[in-house]
Amino acid sequence: MTLAAIVAHDPNLVIGRKGELPWHYSKDLKYFKKVTMGHPIIMGRVVFEELNEKPLPGRENIVLSRSRNYEHVPTFNAIKGALDYVADEDIAFVIGGAEVYRQLMPKVERLFVTEIHEEYQGDTYFPEYRHEIGSIWRERKRDTHSELSFVVYERI
Ligand SMILES: NC(=O)c1ccc[n+]([C@@H]2O[C@H](COP(=O)([O-])OP(=O)(O)OC[C@H]3O[C@@H](n4cnc5c(N)ncnc54)[C@H](OP(=O)(O)O)[C@@H]3O)[C@@H](O)[C@H]2O)c1
Repeated sequence: MTLAAIVAHDPNLVIGRKGELPWHYSKDLKYFKKVTMGHPIIMGRVVFEELNEKPLPGRENIVLSRSRNYEHVPTFNAIKGALDYVADEDIAFVIGGAEVYRQLMPKVERLFVTEIHEEYQGDTYFPEYRHEIGSIWRERKRDTHSELSFVVYERI
Protein backbone atom coordinates (compact mmCIF):
# COMPACT_ATOMS: atom_id res chain seq x y z
CA MET A 1 0.00 0.00 0.00
CA THR A 2 1.25 3.44 -0.89
CA LEU A 3 0.34 6.04 1.69
CA ALA A 4 -0.29 9.43 0.11
CA ALA A 5 -1.28 12.78 1.57
CA ILE A 6 -3.21 15.51 -0.16
CA VAL A 7 -3.24 19.10 1.11
CA ALA A 8 -3.80 22.66 0.00
CA HIS A 9 -1.67 25.26 1.74
CA ASP A 10 -0.89 28.93 1.33
CA PRO A 11 2.66 30.39 1.12
CA ASN A 12 2.91 30.25 4.94
CA LEU A 13 1.61 26.66 5.15
CA VAL A 14 -1.80 27.81 6.43
CA ILE A 15 -4.37 25.06 5.86
CA GLY A 16 -7.29 26.00 8.09
CA ARG A 17 -9.08 28.65 10.05
CA LYS A 18 -11.63 28.07 12.82
CA GLY A 19 -12.13 24.44 11.79
CA GLU A 20 -12.71 25.26 8.12
CA LEU A 21 -10.78 25.88 4.93
CA PRO A 22 -9.85 29.60 4.75
CA TRP A 23 -10.63 29.71 1.00
CA HIS A 24 -12.86 28.34 -1.71
CA TYR A 25 -11.29 27.31 -5.00
CA SER A 26 -13.58 25.09 -7.06
CA LYS A 27 -10.61 24.05 -9.21
CA ASP A 28 -8.93 22.62 -6.11
CA LEU A 29 -12.07 20.81 -4.96
CA LYS A 30 -12.34 19.20 -8.42
CA TYR A 31 -8.68 18.19 -8.28
CA PHE A 32 -9.14 16.70 -4.79
CA LYS A 33 -12.11 14.69 -6.05
CA LYS A 34 -10.27 13.46 -9.16
CA VAL A 35 -7.16 12.37 -7.23
CA THR A 36 -8.91 10.65 -4.32
CA MET A 37 -11.93 9.10 -6.11
CA GLY A 38 -12.13 5.33 -5.63
CA HIS A 39 -9.51 5.26 -2.89
CA PRO A 40 -9.76 5.19 0.89
CA ILE A 41 -9.34 8.51 2.66
CA ILE A 42 -8.14 8.85 6.25
CA MET A 43 -9.11 11.92 8.23
CA GLY A 44 -9.24 13.34 11.74
CA ARG A 45 -12.48 13.82 13.63
CA VAL A 46 -12.40 17.61 13.08
CA VAL A 47 -12.32 17.17 9.29
CA PHE A 48 -15.16 14.64 9.47
CA GLU A 49 -17.20 17.14 11.46
CA GLU A 50 -16.45 19.74 8.79
CA LEU A 51 -18.13 17.31 6.36
CA ASN A 52 -21.13 17.31 8.71
CA GLU A 53 -20.26 13.68 9.43
CA LYS A 54 -21.34 12.73 5.89
CA PRO A 55 -18.79 10.49 4.18
CA LEU A 56 -17.47 11.75 0.84
CA PRO A 57 -19.03 9.56 -1.86
CA GLY A 58 -17.08 7.03 -3.93
CA ARG A 59 -14.32 6.70 -1.35
CA GLU A 60 -14.08 4.69 1.85
CA ASN A 61 -14.00 7.29 4.60
CA ILE A 62 -11.91 6.35 7.64
CA VAL A 63 -11.98 8.53 10.74
CA LEU A 64 -9.52 8.84 13.60
CA SER A 65 -11.04 9.72 16.96
CA ARG A 66 -10.55 8.88 20.59
CA SER A 67 -13.79 10.57 21.66
CA ARG A 68 -16.31 9.35 19.08
CA ASN A 69 -17.19 6.03 17.46
CA TYR A 70 -19.25 6.63 14.35
CA GLU A 71 -21.48 3.75 13.32
CA HIS A 72 -21.58 4.65 9.61
CA VAL A 73 -17.82 4.91 9.01
CA PRO A 74 -14.86 2.88 10.24
CA THR A 75 -13.48 4.81 13.20
CA PHE A 76 -10.14 4.07 14.87
CA ASN A 77 -8.72 5.32 18.15
CA ALA A 78 -5.13 4.90 16.97
CA ILE A 79 -3.18 5.37 13.73
CA LYS A 80 -2.24 1.70 13.58
CA GLY A 81 -5.86 0.57 13.33
CA ALA A 82 -6.48 2.85 10.36
CA LEU A 83 -3.29 1.77 8.57
CA ASP A 84 -4.00 -1.93 9.15
CA TYR A 85 -7.48 -1.38 7.74
CA VAL A 86 -6.10 -0.06 4.41
CA ALA A 87 -3.07 -2.37 4.26
CA ASP A 88 -4.33 -4.30 1.21
CA GLU A 89 -5.23 -1.21 -0.84
CA ASP A 90 -3.01 0.06 -3.68
CA ILE A 91 -3.08 3.58 -2.30
CA ALA A 92 -4.74 5.40 0.59
CA PHE A 93 -4.94 9.16 1.11
CA VAL A 94 -4.38 11.10 4.30
CA ILE A 95 -6.65 14.13 3.89
CA GLY A 96 -5.94 15.95 7.17
CA GLY A 97 -6.28 17.88 9.30
CA ALA A 98 -3.11 19.23 10.83
CA GLU A 99 -2.96 16.80 13.73
CA VAL A 100 -3.34 13.80 11.45
CA TYR A 101 -0.88 15.11 8.83
CA ARG A 102 1.69 15.70 11.58
CA GLN A 103 1.51 12.11 12.78
CA LEU A 104 1.38 10.45 9.39
CA MET A 105 3.86 12.53 7.36
CA PRO A 106 6.79 10.26 8.32
CA LYS A 107 4.95 7.37 6.64
CA VAL A 108 3.73 9.30 3.59
CA GLU A 109 5.39 8.33 0.31
CA ARG A 110 3.52 10.55 -2.14
CA LEU A 111 2.45 14.10 -1.45
CA PHE A 112 -0.14 15.96 -3.49
CA VAL A 113 0.16 19.66 -2.70
CA THR A 114 -2.02 22.46 -3.94
CA GLU A 115 0.01 25.62 -3.49
CA ILE A 116 -2.44 28.47 -2.91
CA HIS A 117 -0.66 31.56 -4.22
CA GLU A 118 -2.45 34.13 -2.05
CA GLU A 119 -1.76 34.51 1.68
CA TYR A 120 -4.59 33.82 4.13
CA GLN A 121 -5.19 34.30 7.84
CA GLY A 122 -5.26 30.95 9.60
CA ASP A 123 -4.76 29.02 12.81
CA THR A 124 -3.86 25.60 11.44
CA TYR A 125 -0.67 24.76 9.57
CA PHE A 126 0.78 21.95 7.49
CA PRO A 127 4.08 20.62 8.87
CA GLU A 128 7.15 22.24 7.30
CA TYR A 129 8.47 19.96 4.54
CA ARG A 130 9.92 22.39 2.02
CA HIS A 131 13.46 22.25 3.42
CA GLU A 132 13.34 18.52 2.64
CA ILE A 133 12.71 19.01 -1.07
CA GLY A 134 15.69 17.56 -2.88
CA SER A 135 16.80 15.42 0.06
CA ILE A 136 13.62 13.59 1.13
CA TRP A 137 11.11 14.75 -1.49
CA ARG A 138 11.52 14.78 -5.24
CA GLU A 139 9.16 16.95 -7.27
CA ARG A 140 7.50 14.75 -9.90
CA LYS A 141 4.93 17.08 -11.39
CA ARG A 142 4.01 20.76 -11.31
CA ASP A 143 0.96 22.24 -12.97
CA THR A 144 0.74 26.01 -12.49
CA HIS A 145 -2.49 27.99 -12.80
CA SER A 146 -3.21 31.64 -12.04
CA GLU A 147 -4.31 31.22 -8.41
CA LEU A 148 -2.83 27.86 -7.51
CA SER A 149 -0.30 25.20 -8.49
CA PHE A 150 -0.76 21.45 -8.31
CA VAL A 151 2.46 19.76 -7.27
CA VAL A 152 3.24 16.08 -6.71
CA TYR A 153 6.23 14.95 -4.63
CA GLU A 154 7.58 11.47 -4.09
CA ARG A 155 9.70 10.30 -1.20
CA ILE A 156 13.22 9.64 -2.44
N1 LIG B 1 -6.17 22.86 3.39
C1 LIG B 1 -6.28 21.55 3.49
O1 LIG B 1 -5.89 20.80 2.57
C2 LIG B 1 -6.91 20.95 4.70
C3 LIG B 1 -7.15 19.58 4.76
C4 LIG B 1 -7.72 19.06 5.91
C5 LIG B 1 -8.06 19.89 6.95
N2 LIG B 1 -7.82 21.21 6.87
C6 LIG B 1 -8.14 22.10 7.99
O2 LIG B 1 -7.50 21.61 9.17
C7 LIG B 1 -8.30 21.96 10.31
C8 LIG B 1 -8.54 20.69 11.12
O3 LIG B 1 -7.31 20.17 11.59
P1 LIG B 1 -7.11 19.74 13.11
O4 LIG B 1 -5.66 19.46 13.32
O5 LIG B 1 -7.78 20.76 13.96
O6 LIG B 1 -8.01 18.43 13.26
P2 LIG B 1 -7.98 16.96 12.61
O7 LIG B 1 -6.58 16.50 12.40
O8 LIG B 1 -8.94 16.89 11.47
O9 LIG B 1 -8.67 16.13 13.78
C9 LIG B 1 -8.05 16.04 15.05
C10 LIG B 1 -8.77 14.95 15.81
O10 LIG B 1 -8.52 13.68 15.21
C11 LIG B 1 -8.44 12.69 16.21
N3 LIG B 1 -7.11 12.10 16.19
C12 LIG B 1 -5.95 12.69 15.79
N4 LIG B 1 -4.92 11.82 15.92
C13 LIG B 1 -5.46 10.67 16.39
C14 LIG B 1 -4.92 9.41 16.72
N5 LIG B 1 -3.61 9.13 16.60
N6 LIG B 1 -5.76 8.46 17.17
C15 LIG B 1 -7.07 8.70 17.30
N7 LIG B 1 -7.66 9.88 17.00
C16 LIG B 1 -6.85 10.84 16.56
C17 LIG B 1 -8.75 13.37 17.53
O11 LIG B 1 -10.16 13.31 17.66
P3 LIG B 1 -10.91 13.27 19.09
O12 LIG B 1 -10.73 14.62 19.67
O13 LIG B 1 -12.32 12.92 18.75
O14 LIG B 1 -10.20 12.20 19.89
C18 LIG B 1 -8.31 14.80 17.25
O15 LIG B 1 -8.92 15.74 18.09
C19 LIG B 1 -9.57 22.58 9.77
O16 LIG B 1 -9.45 23.99 9.79
C20 LIG B 1 -9.60 22.11 8.33
O17 LIG B 1 -10.31 22.98 7.48
C21 LIG B 1 -7.26 21.76 5.77
